[in-house]
Amino acid sequence: MEIVSGAFDFDTIIPRQGTGSLKWEKYEPDVLPLWVADMDFACPEAVSRALVERAAHPIYGYNTQSPALMESIVQWVKRRHHWEIEPEWILLSPGVINSIILSILALSQPGDGVIIQTPIYHPFFPVIRDNEREVAENPLILNNGRYEIDFDQLERTLAGRKNKLLLLCSPHNPVGRVWSRDELKTISELCQKYEVDVLSDY
Ligand SMILES: Cc1ncc(COP(=O)(O)O)c(C=O)c1O
Repeated sequence: MEIVSGAFDFDTIIPRQGTGSLKWEKYEPDVLPLWVADMDFACPEAVSRALVERAAHPIYGYNTQSPALMESIVQWVKRRHHWEIEPEWILLSPGVINSIILSILALSQPGDGVIIQTPIYHPFFPVIRDNEREVAENPLILNNGRYEIDFDQLERTLAGRKNKLLLLCSPHNPVGRVWSRDELKTISELCQKYEVDVLSDY
C-alpha cells in the first residue's frame, strides 16, 4: 500500500485529556509538554482498522513473528533507504529504549564506553550507566543557533580505547537536527577507522 501524504489530517486538534496520556496528564495543564516526542496527530486509519480487527478476536495469545510483517519491513527499508535487508536480520522489540539496552548488552562489555552527543534524550544516560558501561560525551556545538557535531572531539573520543559504541540519534532529540548525508558519512568513516559500532536511534 502506498500512502499519499495528502491523505492525512494534520490540522484537527484532538483532545487527549482523560486518555492516560503521559504527555498531557503528568504535569499541571499550564505546563507545555515539549519534553516528550509524542505526536498529537491521529494514527493512520489503516493502522487503527488493523488493531480493531485484531482486538475483535476473543483470544490474545502469543504471536509468531509474522512473515507478512517481516516482508513489509524489508520492502519499506528497500523503498525508503535503497537498502536490501533479509527478514532474518529483523528482531522485534517492545520499544526503542528496550532495543538500545539489548544492543548495548550484545555489542559491548561491562566497563566499555558508549559515546553520546549531548544534549541528548535523557534516558540515554541511564541505559548506559545502569548496564555497567561508561558514558563518553561528545558535546554538540551551538553555532549561530544551530547545533553541529564537533568532529575533532568526536575523533579523539572514538580513539579512546575503551569506547566501543556510538549511540546516534537522528533526528537528534532535543536539538532538532536531522544529520545531513555528509555528516553521517563522516561519522561512518570515523567509526570504521576506530572500529566503533554505531547504534542508530533513527
Ligand atoms: C530519541 C528518542 N528515542 C527513543 C524515544 C522513545 O522510544 P520508545 O517509546 O519506543 O522507547 C524517544 C521518545 O521521546 C526519543 O525522543
